[in-house]
Amino acid sequence: RSNDKFVTDIPKIELHVHIEGTMTPELRWKLAQRNKIPLTAGSEKVLLPTLAETREAYQHIRGRIGATSADGKRNMTFFEAYYGGFDLLQTEEDYFDLAMGYFERAGEMNVRYCEPFFDPQGHTRRGIPIDMILKGFKRAQIAAEHRLNVRSQWIMCMLRDMSPESAMDQYEAALPYKDMIVGLGLDSDEFERPPSLFDDLFKRAREDGFKLTSHCDFNQKDTHDHILQVAERLGGTGAERIDHGMNAADQAGLMEIIKSKDIGMTICPCAYIRHASEEAVFPRIRKLFDAGIKITIASDDPAYMEDNWVLHNLHMVREKCSFNNKDMMQLQRNAVSICWASDELKKKLL
Ligand code: ADE
Ligand code: ZN
Repeated sequence: RSNDKFVTDIPKIELHVHIEGTMTPELRWKLAQRNKIPLTAGSEKVLLPTLAETREAYQHIRGRIGATSADGKRNMTFFEAYYGGFDLLQTEEDYFDLAMGYFERAGEMNVRYCEPFFDPQGHTRRGIPIDMILKGFKRAQIAAEHRLNVRSQWIMCMLRDMSPESAMDQYEAALPYKDMIVGLGLDSDEFERPPSLFDDLFKRAREDGFKLTSHCDFNQKDTHDHILQVAERLGGTGAERIDHGMNAADQAGLMEIIKSKDIGMTICPCAYIRHASEEAVFPRIRKLFDAGIKITIASDDPAYMEDNWVLHNLHMVREKCSFNNKDMMQLQRNAVSICWASDELKKKLL
């Protein structure tokens, strides 16, 4: 891992991190013990693994289809590992610990403001009340602001592989917590699930005052169509941000639309290089940046992506895109510009 003092020290903003994707093996282990839930560690053979085995399993999370490693054990896919972690979250304290764990880490990296995602349906479909989740998050959010000087607002993401009706029901159930939720997003498995399926929900959310964003992950089927839908039709006239959206760099027309509408993009390089070559990733990042599109660098699911947090992602683009100090500052200014903090807070972040 490359290292650089300038990047380590600068005040940071993180706008693309799934709170459930910050569940470290240590927290997973702790929650399994506390809630007396049997833990699996990737291979069907290892029930009730040790902490060391849990850590080990995290190092082999790959791809969409579970690969088999040399010793015959089946590795966890990303989605298996990610949604498997949801089952361990059972009490308000668990949600507090998950969020606090991320905020502490964020504080250590000099992240001063963040907008973490959460996936309410992944919890409520297991019978967890929305109040429990958001009460735990809220306590952590307040503690982080006071104890760590890390400010935050939440983005509620709907699972696009579930139905639009389910998303609307979940949205309405979360409305009592509107004051701690700044935006609505769309994540999970994108295959044949275009953003337009959720038109009604995004229109409603915009009317209700939420900011809008949607995942368009790198190199997915129909990605250019999905990017265009997010830019031009979500909420009626297009979303404020696109999460990932890297394939916009393939088409001058898409880049022009994103630029002219001043749409922000959240880019997570360590997530892409797990599936794509460096030559596919870094020139695209550089191209978007050089076009003056407001991109920001983030971590996505750091615990499941070889433990690469926002700091590592920043070090990586610094080196691989040959960004200088001025460029690194511009990335943070982009983040301030496209984040959804109040104007008053934005002034303090600059
Ligand atoms: N939800 C959490 N992480 C995700 C990812 N990398 N892609 C799609 N949905 C997600
Ligand atoms: Zn994501």
